[in-house]
Amino acid sequence: MFLAGLQSSLLAVVATCFFASTTHAQPGQFTPYFVPAAVQNGTSHAQFTSTVAGIDAPKVQPINASAWDWWYFDVVSADPTRVSSVVVIFFTSPQSGFPLIPPSGSGSNVITTAHIFVSFPNGTLWSAAADAEGASVEAGPGGGSSGTWIGTGFSWTGSPGSGYLIRVDAPDIGVTGTINFRPTAPPHYPCGPVSAGQTLEVGPGIGWANAIPDAVSVVDLNIDGTRLAFSGSGYHDKNWSNQVFTSLVGSWYWGHGRIGAYSIVWFDFLDPTGKEAVSAYVAKENKIIATSCALGSITVRPTGQNATYPPVISTGNPSGYHIDFDLGCEGTLVVDVEVLGNIVVVNPEYGRFVGNMTGSVSPMEGEATTGLVGMALFEQFKLTA
Ligand SMILES: *[C@@H]1O[C@H](CO)[C@@H](O)[C@H](O)[C@H]1NC(C)=O
Ligand SMILES: *[C@@H]1O[C@H](CO)[C@@H](O)[C@H](O)[C@H]1NC(C)=O
Ligand SMILES: *[C@@H]1O[C@H](CO)[C@@H](O)[C@H](O)[C@H]1NC(C)=O
Ligand SMILES: *[C@@H]1O[C@H](CO)[C@@H](O)[C@H](O)[C@H]1NC(C)=O
Ligand SMILES: *[C@@H]1O[C@H](CO)[C@@H](O)[C@H](O)[C@H]1NC(C)=O
Ligand SMILES: *[C@@H]1O[C@H](CO)[C@@H](O)[C@H](O)[C@H]1NC(C)=O
Repeated sequence: MFLAGLQSSLLAVVATCFFASTTHAQPGQFTPYFVPAAVQNGTSHAQFTSTVAGIDAPKVQPINASAWDWWYFDVVSADPTRVSSVVVIFFTSPQSGFPLIPPSGSGSNVITTAHIFVSFPNGTLWSAAADAEGASVEAGPGGGSSGTWIGTGFSWTGSPGSGYLIRVDAPDIGVTGTINFRPTAPPHYPCGPVSAGQTLEVGPGIGWANAIPDAVSVVDLNIDGTRLAFSGSGYHDKNWSNQVFTSLVGSWYWGHGRIGAYSIVWFDFLDPTGKEAVSAYVAKENKIIATSCALGSITVRPTGQNATYPPVISTGNPSGYHIDFDLGCEGTLVVDVEVLGNIVVVNPEYGRFVGNMTGSVSPMEGEATTGLVGMALFEQFKLTA
């Protein structure tokens, strides 16, 4: 079958510096899943090897008190003079599994919550959350999915090939509108393109699937009577585990953006013992140029103020990051990121930022392309004292 063929042609894929996109639709039924609003007793099974069950299917069942599984979407404005952004997260995660989760709408123990965070063009922050009466997710073998957080007014529908639409109809918490994602870069898993039988572990015990590494996105929201409308680089992934987040992570740097014609996603992580794990992704013209979890395929290091590495809770947030991507036979991509604004309330363990980037590509032979610029949305966790 096609998937077996993809495995055996992996060497050829690397040699030609071209990754086949596997986002072709496959026929098949959508599978319905229901996640109750209450944490469940017993053991949680977490999926760490890809199947045909769908990139956006729930990956942990059931959600016990150590588990977390969520669907994450964001958009960062393409305009370097604005810091507009939006982040929407559909959680099925108890605070005992993901202790950094912001308090739910009502302070209840509901684990099915929808959160929205925005930054206005001038940097003003606003956020809200709503508790659902359970979450309904459908996922098809071709990658299509939909999710409804029951009773909140938050839902998504879409696929990595066709894009996504988030609808928000939550006037009770002050937000209505839509966010859409027209994909410009193929999906991937931590170590390679999307196919069955791939590892989904981006670090020990942490699952990750990136359905939308980059998209042309249009945001049109009404926030407490103020319109927030912008276009930019959109992104969607999901991550999960059946173990408590803080037991798995020492620190992590993650981000995405579009620089020149390149769509990039970076991940550079240390587990609690200081062991590094990485995932590098670069695409251009809707083709993957690099997707790897090999150490050395990417390094992300803090720069400027507070550039302590490894970072610890007591060090402040850095003013930027320096990133080296190995593009194989296309050479190297070097990116400098500078923080323009915090987009979550400042917290010693966690920061999420909007920033600008400059970069260059140096091919194996010939002239470097310099002066690439773009915007990024990125985050860091530091959980080590
Ligand atoms: C989990 O177990 C506790 C203690 O036996 C019980 O009170 C609770 O209802 C159980 N929760 C669920 C979702 O079954
Ligand atoms: C949840 O399930 C996982 C996997 O079986 C287990 O390791 C963990 O201890 C469970 N958590 C709780 C609170 O029972
Ligand atoms: C920033 O923009 C928001 C939303 O338009 C507005 O409510 C706020 O007053 C502005 N703040 C300043 C300092 O201009
Ligand atoms: C994990 O979750 C965070 C927060 O929702 C998200 O920003 C990030 O993209 C995810 N990344 C990885 C590698 O797990
Ligand atoms: C560096 O850390 C200090 C202390 O936490 C903080 O006040 C400062 O804002 C940080 N610098 C940046 C660029 O965030
Ligand atoms: C970010 O933008 C500022 C203001 O235009 C500029 O001074 C700085 O060099 C830029 N930094 C990067 C890394 O692009």
